[in-house]
Amino acid sequence: MTGSIEAMFRVDGRTALVTGSSRGIGREIARTLSRAGASVLVHGSRESDALREAAAECGAVPVVGDLTSPQGVEAVIRTCRERGVDPDILVLNASVQRYVELGEFDEAEFQREFQANTAASFRLIEAFSPAMREKRWGRIITVGSVNQLRPSPRLTLYSATKAAQMSLTANFAKTLAPHGVTVNCLVPGVILTDRNTEALKDAAYREKVRSAIPVGFFGESSDCAGAALLLASDAGRYIAGIELPVTGGMHL
Ligand SMILES: NC(=O)c1ccc[n+]([C@@H]2O[C@H](COP(=O)([O-])OP(=O)(O)OC[C@H]3O[C@@H](n4cnc5c(N)ncnc54)[C@H](OP(=O)(O)O)[C@@H]3O)[C@@H](O)[C@H]2O)c1
Repeated sequence: MTGSIEAMFRVDGRTALVTGSSRGIGREIARTLSRAGASVLVHGSRESDALREAAAECGAVPVVGDLTSPQGVEAVIRTCRERGVDPDILVLNASVQRYVELGEFDEAEFQREFQANTAASFRLIEAFSPAMREKRWGRIITVGSVNQLRPSPRLTLYSATKAAQMSLTANFAKTLAPHGVTVNCLVPGVILTDRNTEALKDAAYREKVRSAIPVGFFGESSDCAGAALLLASDAGRYIAGIELPVTGGMHL
């Protein structure tokens, strides 16, 4: 690869859809892709001030769809089609999770998490990868979790949906690589977002979690954004089918 260091990481002329980008990690990834030159579609489960603000940051029009239902997933696909957008970069970041103790198994919760965290990823890749193949350029980044590598008893369902998503990632990676499309999984550790604010309010629990992170501190959403840009840009063109832990070593 030739050219400047900066050019390696530019994504000018590319269009990106980042699911779950109204807040947290997805918002930071959307902002970073936008700063690196992409036109970004920002997505949330519903209309909200956070979604409007995130979209404004990227100069984007928001896309809405609740991924816990197949209809919500189709709404996202339909909106993109109506706007004539075929994303070159697809970041599958939105997910749902609930702490469930053994003995509290709940069929509805299983369906909800499997639909949002695994089935939605399958459907969105199925919908958007053909245009990437035609263009012979595409980047698909699934967002997993350290829990797909490291068991967490109260997140058994969530961990299983993320591990299944990794299996999809590996299979799609092998299928799509010959067509110029890379598929990889970015695996966050504990990143300070709305998702874990409540759980980390308990000082003893917070210290227990922090002390299990080899670098000794919690991650920020921006820690995931650089890794996403690597996978999305030409700098990452030879990376296919990996799990990239952004965990401060917590997966070890
Ligand atoms: N934070 C961590 O420590 C951590 C650790 C491991 C893995 N991860 C993974 O990283 C990703 C981002 O996590 P985060 O902490 O940034 O999450 P977050 O702060 O909770 O934000 C979640 C985002 O997903 C959207 N979303 C939530 N439910 C949805 C639904 N049913 N349909 C469509 N979109 C929905 C939200 O949209 P609304 O604003 O509309 O609700 C929001 O944009 C997730 O895949 C998560 O599993 C996070």
